[in-house]
Amino acid sequence: MRILITGANGFLGKKLSVKLLEQGHELYLLVRSRKRLDAFMQGEARPFSNQIHILEGDVTEEHLGLNRELVDSLKGKIDALYHSAALLSFDERDRDKTFEVNVGGTENVLKLALELNCPKVLYISTAYTVGTEIAGAEALYSAERQFVNPYEASKCEAEHLVYSFRDKLDIVILRPGIIIGDSRSGEADTNFGLYGFLKGIKILKKRSMRKQDGRTCRIYLDPEVAQNFVPVNYVIDTLNAALIHGVNGGIYNITNPNPPLQSDIYEIVKEVLDFSQLEMCVPGSSAEMTNEEKAFHESMSIFHSYFQRTIDFPSDNTEKLLAAAGVPMLQMDREALTRIIAGYLLNKTSVSS
Ligand SMILES: NC(=O)c1ccc[n+]([C@@H]2O[C@H](COP(=O)([O-])OP(=O)(O)OC[C@H]3O[C@@H](n4cnc5c(N)ncnc54)[C@H](OP(=O)(O)O)[C@@H]3O)[C@@H](O)[C@H]2O)c1
Repeated sequence: MRILITGANGFLGKKLSVKLLEQGHELYLLVRSRKRLDAFMQGEARPFSNQIHILEGDVTEEHLGLNRELVDSLKGKIDALYHSAALLSFDERDRDKTFEVNVGGTENVLKLALELNCPKVLYISTAYTVGTEIAGAEALYSAERQFVNPYEASKCEAEHLVYSFRDKLDIVILRPGIIIGDSRSGEADTNFGLYGFLKGIKILKKRSMRKQDGRTCRIYLDPEVAQNFVPVNYVIDTLNAALIHGVNGGIYNITNPNPPLQSDIYEIVKEVLDFSQLEMCVPGSSAEMTNEEKAFHESMSIFHSYFQRTIDFPSDNTEKLLAAAGVPMLQMDREALTRIIAGYLLNKTSVSS
């Protein structure tokens, strides 16, 4: 098949591209900068260079910034489009830009798909369009609900937009949980989600070691709360299955049916980092924090809402999708999680400060 991918230079975009290239598909990779794709083109993508067309563009522009001649030449040529490009900022100050890229950009992508007569659009959303609730569904959420940040709100609005095109195109909405590294190698090329937390812990350890006072370093997290981590290779297998088996209007939670508890994550981090002073305390404890602990918790403030709730994400649609494709459902054991966490924490280049 001939497949267009937006966000092709991202964490997910590159992994998805490799999977599709290995299957023999011909890809049109939309990237903002051809130069930034160089490392990928000279690395993992090298054996497949004759299957790749690079399109320089920007989803916030009409026709994604592609010129008329190019758009005309692509008409009738694209069999499916994965829309993965997004701005992944939780910062309220980025609200306008986040909506411009995530909602305006999605509208431009849908319009282009129509113009190109591309029959199928697979939209990569997020499980966290669930907002501040604790019970998810594999259905559209009301856009009026409360959201933790503009990122969630923008992705929910974009889902509504995608869904409204289901009479004109086959559309599929795919909602990953928190994407972490590869369960087999531990490798991950991202600083998002878990990796922001791990970076914070690594800095906390460095600072506390510098002081050499032997005091415990407390992190205030509810041990019973679960985090919906999904290894990137499982996400890619599901995105790939949806290319053939995803039904029009289908919404798929790509989530972990047995997500790890914060106590599991804490124990693994403590062991991998050999950080014996690290202690997990129930939030709300009255003990005064040290400056290092305060700095850590302040830097984690964007995650507070996620640290406090376990969200239940049903994934029956995904289970059926994967069964049709002959792919097993996720079973992430402690060993795989340890490999992924160690893959980042033991990488010397992962923290510079
Ligand atoms: N990572 C997660 O934990 C997670 C979880 C759930 C859902 N998702 C969703 O998965 C998708 C991919 O995320 P990711 O982790 O791969 O993020 P990422 O590494 O930040 O990739 C996002 C890509 O979008 C591109 N992009 C941003 N603005 C653009 C624009 N205006 N025009 C064209 N391209 C633009 C970026 O291009 P540049 O390379 O030029 O910056 C980047 O390559 C997103 O839709 C995200 O919402 C991610």
